[in-house]
Amino acid sequence: SKTPVRVAVTGAAGQIGYALLFRIASGEMLGKDQPVILQLLEIPDEKAQNALKGVIMELEDCAFPLLVGIEAHSDPMTAFKDTDYALLVGSRPRGPGMERAELLAINGAIFTTQGKALNAVASRNVKVLVVGNPANTNAYIAMKAAPDLPAKNFTAMLRLDHNRAASQLAAKTGKAVADIENLAVWGNHSPTMYADYRFATIGGASVKDMINDEAWNRDVFLPTVGKRGAAIIAARGLSSAASAANAAIDHMRDWALGTNGKWVTMGIPSNGEYGIPKEVMFGYPVTCANGEYKIVEGLAIDEFSQECINKTLAELQGEQDGVKHLL
Ligand code: NAI
Repeated sequence: SKTPVRVAVTGAAGQIGYALLFRIASGEMLGKDQPVILQLLEIPDEKAQNALKGVIMELEDCAFPLLVGIEAHSDPMTAFKDTDYALLVGSRPRGPGMERAELLAINGAIFTTQGKALNAVASRNVKVLVVGNPANTNAYIAMKAAPDLPAKNFTAMLRLDHNRAASQLAAKTGKAVADIENLAVWGNHSPTMYADYRFATIGGASVKDMINDEAWNRDVFLPTVGKRGAAIIAARGLSSAASAANAAIDHMRDWALGTNGKWVTMGIPSNGEYGIPKEVMFGYPVTCANGEYKIVEGLAIDEFSQECINKTLAELQGEQDGVKHLL
């Protein structure tokens, strides 16, 4: 049987953690033949550590055959030791009335510390996914704090936006969501993201031609996908958790095990592709094989798409500039 791999999860006692850990432990992320050791990080606060203990008791009570170890941590320097996969879920999202500078400063501190810890103790091949918001900028901060690790190993979660877009397109066309190919989401995980179905197909037929309604794209589809998180908070009184955890599973599984040529969306550091400045943590369409992602290149960018990309890029660069002094 395979050698166990180490999977670190931060914010492990939070609501995404609760929807995520059981699926990692059951083999949905890395395969039904891959044993895992969970290295769970929570803040030192007694309430959080107690909640983490409760989650661990439940993980034990599942008796998952693939779960060969569980550790509770309050320090990233031990939580990230030798870790092969790191899912950085815990963060400080923007609270009511919170200033942007305050938000960026708090997360700057969290993700600088965690990036440094990954740099010091994680596997040299660690694959890092940042879920905690502002996800792209937090991933950028962690990447900058980890100069000894490959920058390409730091990614941000755009997959929830991608899955939301796919679901809206399936509903609009009356087709199966599983049959949608070649969907792309560009930019920041925020309402400025640009979900782009110009290249999408279902059973080989063009989704754009099938829908044939540019007003729907601009006035219904993009705002629906962009504001979906807010709509869920309004309906549930809590932010999306199960769908976020599901997207994290999809992101890591596809990165580790490959997509068989299918396009998925990942937030990754730019190497200048599509005119995005280097190092900006940007949502791109990618395919994955052999544990590596590859940007889908050569796509035509029309005027409207360029406007959308410029807008989400400007927002990201604003965030990035806002944390420069913290790095
Ligand atoms: P939550 O508040 O239920 O849980 C977060 C947990 O993280 C808490 O238990 C907290 O104690 C812990 N935590 C905070 N700082 C930490 C640190 N420095 N180290 C370790 N643990 C820490 O929040 P929830 O619902 O689980 O969401 C987590 C994050 O994911 C939020 O920032 C949220 O905005 C974000 N999110 C991102 C999505 C995406 O698509 N990228 C989608 C949905 C949520």
